[in-house]
Amino acid sequence: MISVHLDVEAVRADFPALARKVRNDKPLIYLDSGATSQKPVQVLDAERSFYERHNSAAHRGTHLLGEEATDVYEGARAKVAAFLGADAGEVVFTKNATEAINLVAYAMSNDRSGSFRVGPGDEILITEMEHHANLVPWQQLCERTGATLRWLDVTPEGRLDLDDLDSMITGRTRIVAVTQQSNVTGTIPPVAEIVRAAHEKGALVLADAAQSVPHQPVDVAALGVDFLAFSAHKMLGPYGIGVLFGRAELLEAMPPFLTGGSMIEVVRMEGSTFLPPPQRFEPGVPAVAEAAGLAAAVDYLTALGMGNVAAHEESLTAHALDALSEISGVRILGPDTTKDRGGAVAFEVEGVHPHDVGQVLDELGIAVRTGHHCAWPLHRALGVQASTRATFYVYNTHDEVDALADGIRYAQRFFQAG
Ligand SMILES: Cc1ncc(COP(=O)(O)O)c(C=O)c1O
Repeated sequence: MISVHLDVEAVRADFPALARKVRNDKPLIYLDSGATSQKPVQVLDAERSFYERHNSAAHRGTHLLGEEATDVYEGARAKVAAFLGADAGEVVFTKNATEAINLVAYAMSNDRSGSFRVGPGDEILITEMEHHANLVPWQQLCERTGATLRWLDVTPEGRLDLDDLDSMITGRTRIVAVTQQSNVTGTIPPVAEIVRAAHEKGALVLADAAQSVPHQPVDVAALGVDFLAFSAHKMLGPYGIGVLFGRAELLEAMPPFLTGGSMIEVVRMEGSTFLPPPQRFEPGVPAVAEAAGLAAAVDYLTALGMGNVAAHEESLTAHALDALSEISGVRILGPDTTKDRGGAVAFEVEGVHPHDVGQVLDELGIAVRTGHHCAWPLHRALGVQASTRATFYVYNTHDEVDALADGIRYAQRFFQAG
């Protein structure tokens, strides 16, 4: 049953890549949007049109094209801010979610005077469920500063173990960094509840929204987070641009991350002063065409309605959980219902290595991801080395979910497993 609010065939027509035939003329079944989404013509057109008409360095030229490029760039910022329920000044453009998280982690070790300074005795709390992008930067921060890294465990079902939340957040916790939707198990942790517990103890909260902003309505004010990070390329937009949302007073207090042109106020040989945020965090000539593409992606998703996007994915996920759980020898990693769960369905097939599953599926035209999906500790916690992962988006259909299930059965027969 496809959500009545989303005309999937009309959506699919906007994505040229989905019309491809692959591997001996089979229709492409793209189930790897968790890695990166396909891009609609509206996004491709927005980038092309920028290059054809307005190409110029934003915030630099004193000519018409420079003004237009600045308008495109700042217009994109305003659009992203409205999409998140933030103010434009709270939206920093970065290269991707990874850079956005590194920006905050670096600021916390580079604050020579202020409130961000982290040192021995301080604690950083993360979870075992994190993508490496929201794990390694915090390990590195602790190594640089002498702070202690702590983490919340996951339950065998792939949810966060919150029993010890109150004791794990202490008066020494400086920041809690948590995913808003796991890229492996699809788990959606209760971020608002974690925010309340953290704020009670004076800790900040960063949400890794790389897998949530593309797939569910996200309002930073309602969530109460201090920082939130995501990438355009997972939400129908281009590579090379991501977003760090930061509460205005926090960004104001933060030292810069990367430095150079476009982020300075006054430069003398003896030293420099820096612009207010968000420019303070955006050195160099900005990625304006990418910002135009991101703005077009936001328009596209807004026109579909994020509630409809989430409902469509929920129905695909429910179908996938049903279809896969009927196959003997298949173990789904993570929750087996759609409650507080998004559309990442990772699984193992008894007796068949994930890479072999992926290869057989690829021969059938079905693109999935195999490996540890940059979440190695999570795989260890769930007792597997690696898994096969299908991820769904606005253009996927229930027939594609059935094809996945048939493909897994075929792989089992091929390898005489199951
Ligand atoms: C949950 C999560 N966080 C962070 C990232 C990092 O995103 P990027 O590689 O675009 O910086 C990913 C990418 O897969 C992700 O799934």
